[in-house]
Amino acid sequence: MDTKVKNTETLLSLGQFHISEDCGFILPEPLVDLPVYYKPWMDIARNVLELIFSHSLRLRIHNMPLLETHLLRTHCELRLAHLALSMMTVGYVWQEGERETIKVLPRNLSVPFCEVSQRLGLPPILIYTDAVLANWKKRDPDGNLELLLTLPGGESVRGFFLVTLLVELAAVPGLKSILDVINGIHYNDVAMVTKALDVVSQAIGSMKQAFKLMHEYVDPSIFYGIMRIYLSGWKDNPSMPEGLVYDGVQEKPMEFSGGSAAQSSILHCFDELLGVQHEGSSGKITISNCSLMIMLDNIRCCTNLWSPLLKNQGIISFAT
Ligand code: HEM
Repeated sequence: MDTKVKNTETLLSLGQFHISEDCGFILPEPLVDLPVYYKPWMDIARNVLELIFSHSLRLRIHNMPLLETHLLRTHCELRLAHLALSMMTVGYVWQEGERETIKVLPRNLSVPFCEVSQRLGLPPILIYTDAVLANWKKRDPDGNLELLLTLPGGESVRGFFLVTLLVELAAVPGLKSILDVINGIHYNDVAMVTKALDVVSQAIGSMKQAFKLMHEYVDPSIFYGIMRIYLSGWKDNPSMPEGLVYDGVQEKPMEFSGGSAAQSSILHCFDELLGVQHEGSSGKITISNCSLMIMLDNIRCCTNLWSPLLKNQGIISFAT
């Protein structure tokens, strides 16, 4: 189906792009457990912290059975599996810190991890999509949040991922308004466009407010000294210059970047809308999410149209 704005007669909505109206790119209501067959994974993933501290995670993973992945049927099951396998993987790699890394990920972890990653179109490493967007649950009826799975770094890890989740949530009204901008341009409705841009601006303000919570909940020395290591990848990393061999998948080592906010789809949508360009490779992501690609395509298509339109109306000059 062609969802480009110029070919459509109806208003675009987030649902068309498989993006949640309420949560944006956040996975709405992530599962907290997998089918019982996957208990060996979840038992380890839930105890990654203790196993790292006792230096026994690698041994536990060596003794883990090689499980089939075809029993993972739904998107939510696959997302929880990816989160669990990625937490195990970064724990396995960095268990002894940056010096005593390993070169090979054992096949009982690497084979299912690569299969699940392929089905989701994600890289086989812990990324933003796992740690932030699919790693939360409601702790109590008041709506307080908790992580599903965690890494070394204590309360700072919790604060870091959950504050980022709040930043994503604060962006959702702005994401909806991006479509109003596109729709407004399609219908030459300048009032609709300006109103939508105002909402985008407010959403960015709310994101900044939410981000300030980092100061309260994250200790910078813990982020830098502990968490950063588990978030780093094996691409251009001096601690793992050759990358990582995923045993049973391919003999040649593979390189993947670790988690970063540059992987946030919502930030890319705002960048695309506002014409923000990043220097070097800081803002680059490999987009394998089909819905996001179509969404960005639509935004691009509309920003090519909107600058002359709004300039003619004397409304803006900042977008070019
Ligand atoms: C809205 C939330 C976030 C913002 C605005 C943000 C932004 C930044 C910025 C500006 C830096 C410093 C870059 C530099 O000075 O070189 C940084 C560092 C870093 N961020 Fe984020 N970040 C966010 C969330 C995340 C998340 C959720 C992850 C992981 C999943 C992550 C992973 C990292 C890592 C690993 C570094 C350290 C890189 C290094 O020095 O080795 N960030 N982030």
